[in-house]
Amino acid sequence: MSSTFTNHQVRLAKRPEGAATRDNWQFTTEPVSEPAEGGVLVKTLSLSLDPAMRGWMNEGKSYIAPVEIGAVMRAGGIGRVIASRNPAFAVGDTVYGTLGVQEYILIPQEEIKRSGLTKIDLRAGSITQWLNVLGMPGMTGYFGLMDIGQPKPGETVVVSGAAGAVGQTVGQLAKIKGCRAVGIAGGQEKCDWVVKELGFDACIDYKAGPSAVRDGLKVHCPKGIDIYFDNVGGEILDAALARLARGARIIICGAISQYNNANSAPAQGPKNYLSLLVNRARMQGMVVFDYADRYHEAVAEMAAYLKDGRMKSREDVVEGIDNFPEALTRLFTGQNFGKLVLQVSG
Ligand SMILES: NC(=O)c1ccc[n+]([C@@H]2O[C@H](COP(=O)([O-])OP(=O)(O)OC[C@H]3O[C@@H](n4cnc5c(N)ncnc54)[C@H](OP(=O)(O)O)[C@@H]3O)[C@@H](O)[C@H]2O)c1
Repeated sequence: MSSTFTNHQVRLAKRPEGAATRDNWQFTTEPVSEPAEGGVLVKTLSLSLDPAMRGWMNEGKSYIAPVEIGAVMRAGGIGRVIASRNPAFAVGDTVYGTLGVQEYILIPQEEIKRSGLTKIDLRAGSITQWLNVLGMPGMTGYFGLMDIGQPKPGETVVVSGAAGAVGQTVGQLAKIKGCRAVGIAGGQEKCDWVVKELGFDACIDYKAGPSAVRDGLKVHCPKGIDIYFDNVGGEILDAALARLARGARIIICGAISQYNNANSAPAQGPKNYLSLLVNRARMQGMVVFDYADRYHEAVAEMAAYLKDGRMKSREDVVEGIDNFPEALTRLFTGQNFGKLVLQVSG
């Protein structure tokens, strides 16, 4: 039956210099085949568009291998099993895994573990929530804050990229854990949403002027920052470093302001790092995949918060695989409002 389907795919055509454009991608089609013994065929429903994708397009060593030229672009996503010769997956199961930017994926038995294919329960959250709070960004926010940040009630938590996928989880979780949450985001609309809808104590619009972050942190963190969850790097990281409280923890989650550096120039380093010394502070990087064995703990906790209304989620859905190139760029211009999702099929 599956031979009647055509798979539309997006492949990496060439590595970008600076921001990625449509030229970096190649659109291909190929027929879909039946799974062999032990394999499954998955139809993509929705894909997670992540800032990390820009890094995977670069050559060179990172926490994960680069996407090869000509390969289907890597992407995590949610799909439906439409053919299975594996007893662990039944036709109709909704699954999460590394599906790639394509409409179908045939996963042979030996690749199932590597693709991270797992069944998900839509009673815990919608498909888009499973790509957001219950998915990779939510796990990042949860383990970054809880494991590295180790928040204590009454502490002040500052998070950049506050209206984005990771940021929205971090601030809300900080509030649930009894902390004061201060966001940093681009534009008044995002800041208003973060405070009024998500319940952060304050949000600083970093686009409001050259000293907006520095001034805002002074006003909203009068006793200093106990935990800074950094999603953006660059100048904002420096402004946060300048305002640390004694014993502060800084979680280096990402540095989106640096990902499009021309010719893969190195990220701008922190100028104010001696603040770590003065304040006996600690700065630590994290990669969410290291916590894969514990995702179930976080999913159970966050699903309960979603259910009782203490956690809200916002996703920004773009439709159509052909729109992948332009959709991805939205992450770097701040045009996404909430977790960016590419809906591939209904
Ligand atoms: N370490 C890990 O395991 C891990 C896992 C997932 C994600 N991450 C990182 O976490 C960060 C957030 O990811 P996400 O998926 O939640 O993305 P997101 O926040 O939903 O989207 C990216 C946001 O970054 C902001 N941004 C873009 N360029 C910026 C700049 N030059 N300066 C300041 N802000 C800028 C924009 O928001 P504004 O409109 O507010 O500017 C944009 O909406 C990224 O750095 C990502 O790489 C790390």
